[in-house]
Amino acid sequence: MVIKTAEFVKSSGKWQECPEGTMPEYAFIGRSNVGKSSLINAMLNRKDLAKTSGTPGKTQLINHFIINESWYLTDLPGYGYAKVSKVMRRDFEKLINNYILNRNNLVNLFVLIDSRHTPQKIDLEFIQWCGESGVPFSIVFTKADKLKPNIAIKNVEDYKVELHKTWEDLPEIYVTSAEKKTGTDEILSFIQKTNEFLANNSVTFNE
Ligand code: GTP
Ligand code: MG
Repeated sequence: MVIKTAEFVKSSGKWQECPEGTMPEYAFIGRSNVGKSSLINAMLNRKDLAKTSGTPGKTQLINHFIINESWYLTDLPGYGYAKVSKVMRRDFEKLINNYILNRNNLVNLFVLIDSRHTPQKIDLEFIQWCGESGVPFSIVFTKADKLKPNIAIKNVEDYKVELHKTWEDLPEIYVTSAEKKTGTDEILSFIQKTNEFLANNSVTFNE
């Protein structure tokens, strides 16, 4: 997909405040610091459209972008950020969960996972919640440039084994690096195909 335009629309602190949901929407979620904002910038070929930071907890609101004037891309706050109070963490969780469950035009959620780590409880629990809630999602491994290819492959395989303990069918899996811009074309072509499918089947979204 060629990115002709990518515009920031707004940041929202509540799902009710999000922009009108009449276009297909794709959202990025994952632990704080996993690389959501960086991957969005890499995909869109824009340096600093989504704000990134070495300090976890940078994205604290729901950020909407309109791409090619036809679909939304959404940068969500990270879950499981340890350095905020329990109350704040619960508020973030509520914000994220309410958005995911109430956003009618949300076509797919990309759940980002740091490819450097062994399967983490917090990510497995989030994936479990998505599956149980009927949320359509894909898994995106990030920061693949930070480790040797064979280790990245092993970590992804370990994850699959873990997920197969609960699920027979696994979602689409992408391995990416925002740094090297790998895996981003695959995500964009999935989005393009999905948008074409929706258009060909006259799927529309109402508020
Ligand atoms: P929050 O908004 O705080 O939840 O974080 P985030 O998930 O949006 O992460 P962000 O994109 O801000 O990246 C966090 C840190 O990881 C930054 O220092 C990035 O430069 C770094 N980073 C992100 N993606 C990659 C990658 O693919 N490779 C490498 N080497 N570093 C990355
Ligand atoms: Mg961010």
